[in-house]
Amino acid sequence: MATLFDSLKVGDITIPNRIIMAPLTRMRSKQPGNIPHELNATYYAQRATAGFILTEATQISQQGQGYPGTPGIHSKEQVDGWKKVTTAVHDKGGIIGLQLWHVGRISHPSHQPNGALPVAPSAIAAKNSGTYTADWKPTPILVPRALETKELSLIIEDYKKGAKNAKDAGFDFVELHMANGYLLDEFLQDGSNKREDNYGGSIENRARFPLEVLDAVIGIFGKGRVGVRISPYGTFNDMQDSDPIKLFSYVIDEFNKRQIAFLDCIEPRATSAGGGDDINANAPSTSELFRKKFKGVFISAGGYNVEEARKAVQNNKADAISFGRIFIANPDLPKRIQTNASLNPYNRATFYGGDHKGYTDYPTL
Ligand code: PHB
Repeated sequence: MATLFDSLKVGDITIPNRIIMAPLTRMRSKQPGNIPHELNATYYAQRATAGFILTEATQISQQGQGYPGTPGIHSKEQVDGWKKVTTAVHDKGGIIGLQLWHVGRISHPSHQPNGALPVAPSAIAAKNSGTYTADWKPTPILVPRALETKELSLIIEDYKKGAKNAKDAGFDFVELHMANGYLLDEFLQDGSNKREDNYGGSIENRARFPLEVLDAVIGIFGKGRVGVRISPYGTFNDMQDSDPIKLFSYVIDEFNKRQIAFLDCIEPRATSAGGGDDINANAPSTSELFRKKFKGVFISAGGYNVEEARKAVQNNKADAISFGRIFIANPDLPKRIQTNASLNPYNRATFYGGDHKGYTDYPTL
């Protein structure tokens, strides 16, 4: 029976435990330029005892940004900033992967080049969803502009550049963000993809662009250092699909063919992603539905407490568990779990934006 403290081979790298730090938007990059800096390096290095760290979602281009203060991986200054982060984590013996992100329709013209409309597979707005403008004002999501077929290869180039930059910055892994209603998920699911070209319609067509991006990223990082995050049945950002089992079974088969290192699958009970603490106990279990289909390392995410995490790994529902909110509040989370120590409570008010408060000042044991 596996425990959270058994090592695990994840693609090319053996990780020391199965407690993963989830990708967490914190909106604290240096401005202007969305540049990772010393404060971010300190925060990640404090959490270097994770099995491995996944960074906050990181835009691959200006067009890929949807929130103020999120870091990028498309300028030289950003690559230099991320080098500070990877060096600080490696100096503490940690392992870290970067999450590659394009937000698709979940953006606002104030973040876009030339104040343009955000882009998406189809001109369909995400209802009851929102973001923040570049000057931090809450805003609903507008109707995006549908991408032309010939633009897709340009976005693939942006992902390639992002992956190449991540490699130059010293990351051990990259995770492709294919979840939570951002660009690649918008292509996958038929609630947001009504395209009539080769990138819409059938499941095969809807998965084509996300898989082309994945192949491009594997071409740079190697299959043993690439993972993907998906959120089947997730409703955050107004997502829906008419047949999630068929869709995600197809996509997971394609991941198996490519032998990617890990699949990071979000439980839909954690329904509001970054937006709240609600748990929907009636949501389907994706570890039940999809764990057996995937041949690589299966990481499960979404509202786990310590006991549930222990059980999930013991019962082979997952190979590893990723923790978000409790990793924010407990930089030494693996040690606390191992010693049954109590956990610091998290403060949601300091999750997004601001300075060191609620970021690098949570105490260790
Ligand atoms: C957010 O910024 O609210 C956010 C970002 C990435 C996610 C989910 C939520 O996957």
